[in-house]
Amino acid sequence: MENFSAFDLLYLVATAFFILGIKRLSKVKTARSGNQLSAIGMLIAIVVTAYKLNFIGGPDGATLNWSTVLIGIAIGGGLGAIMAKRVEMTGMPELVALLNGFGGLASTMVAFTDFYGLGGNGSETALGAGVWSVAIILSIFIGTVTFTGSLMAMGKLSGKLSGNPVILPGRHLLTAVLLIGGLGIAGYGLFTGNFDAEQSIYILIACSAIFGVVSVLPIGGADMPVVVSLLNSYSGIAAAMAGFVIGNSLLIVAGALVGASGLILTMVMCKAMNRSLGNVLIGGFGGGGGEIDKSEYTSVKSAGPEEAAMILESATSVIFIPGYGMAVAQAQHVVKELGLELEKNGCKVRYAIHPVAGRMPGHMNVLLAESDVDYEQLYELERINGEFKTTDVTVIVGANDVVNPEAIENPQSPIAGMPILNAHESGTVLMIKRSLSPGYAGIKNPLFERDNTYMCFGDGKAFIEDIITELKDA
Ligand code: TAP
Repeated sequence: MENFSAFDLLYLVATAFFILGIKRLSKVKTARSGNQLSAIGMLIAIVVTAYKLNFIGGPDGATLNWSTVLIGIAIGGGLGAIMAKRVEMTGMPELVALLNGFGGLASTMVAFTDFYGLGGNGSETALGAGVWSVAIILSIFIGTVTFTGSLMAMGKLSGKLSGNPVILPGRHLLTAVLLIGGLGIAGYGLFTGNFDAEQSIYILIACSAIFGVVSVLPIGGADMPVVVSLLNSYSGIAAAMAGFVIGNSLLIVAGALVGASGLILTMVMCKAMNRSLGNVLIGGFGGGGGEIDKSEYTSVKSAGPEEAAMILESATSVIFIPGYGMAVAQAQHVVKELGLELEKNGCKVRYAIHPVAGRMPGHMNVLLAESDVDYEQLYELERINGEFKTTDVTVIVGANDVVNPEAIENPQSPIAGMPILNAHESGTVLMIKRSLSPGYAGIKNPLFERDNTYMCFGDGKAFIEDIITELKDA
């Protein structure tokens, strides 16, 4: 314990803030405070590190001055604040992708600077040259892959790059060559001294950068949220490696936390889509080989806003199921308004949230929170699924795959096994969408033809506005 300083204690405090922050992020109600706690942890980390470097100096004795730190905070913090303020809710995955990429780039730069600072041989590090070299190589490799891969993901999400999978000829060979070549040459350069260490690092950076691009190109745009989550995990691992490089325990712990939580989120998303991570990374939905039914719908019943209003007027319990179409239509505010209108009528109103409804984790929670829907009315899949049987009306707003009964009734379906919201079990289903088009999985939905389903064709927002007008006029 003799080496345990006040700085280590403060790093421990920052770590506690990070852990508490992540824990609170797991519930909608506490998520905002979780974010704030993590931000406080980060502030402590920055101030303590800057103070330490200013008054004590780094391992190589170098010190920095506050003005450099403050300029860095002003530029980075200022840009971050502007981007966060300007971003639309639907643009959030792109921003997260970009920030992950910057995280990876920062780790690469830390490792690269340390490499130069120690003359490329690491003999002065407390870690010993061997461990230092491994940490340098992994930090640069994972950090650079994260950077270029995240830029590709951002391009696909924003539509600046085609969302279609781009399959390069011989891509598996190319990725193997880049991986083995980059890591092999860097290892050879740093460990044996038979090859110029500096050049080997440049070759590693080039191979990693191309590897990041060719790994993300074959993945379709709609799978980008899973990729972003995985890259988030990579950025954490790169940061942890950079922590080993500069001997900073807090960076190791914080990086490991990001790495582990990103990986858990990735697995949760894959599980909720009933797909393996390998299937997502190889590209294409339902690569498992399920049959897609291309036949036409034959017995669809439809209802206009007036009929929908009449059905809702006599309901005593209603569950709303929002999906990707609600985000497209920006219908969250009118959904809340309709909910209030029904409650005035004495109706019990709840909102069922599927873990992969929409296109990013928590997509529906965020939209409904934006329109001030009470947290108490939001129900996760496990909590609400038993309730549909006793519910009069389920209103589906732009959701499709997450209510498709094929997932539980047809073992041959590409989405077989994916947990769904059991909307089909409720008394009446009002399905608001513009057409009979499929959702993200590209497959037919037999719910459209069920006896208790009325298709309500129209834009989510406009259709619900019309229902509200009908209810008010009644
Ligand atoms: P989807 O199955 O993608 O269906 C969305 C539906 O919204 C479409 O069928 C579309 O039908 C309708 N729509 C589009 N614009 C609309 C508008 N303006 N007004 C009304 N309806 C509109 O959505 P979902 O049920 O939310 O399922 C999400 C899917 O995305 C799942 O397959 C999931 O695996 C996948 N996914 C999710 C995530 C995350 S993390 N959430 C990540 C990757 C993939 P029309 O064109 O007929 O209107």
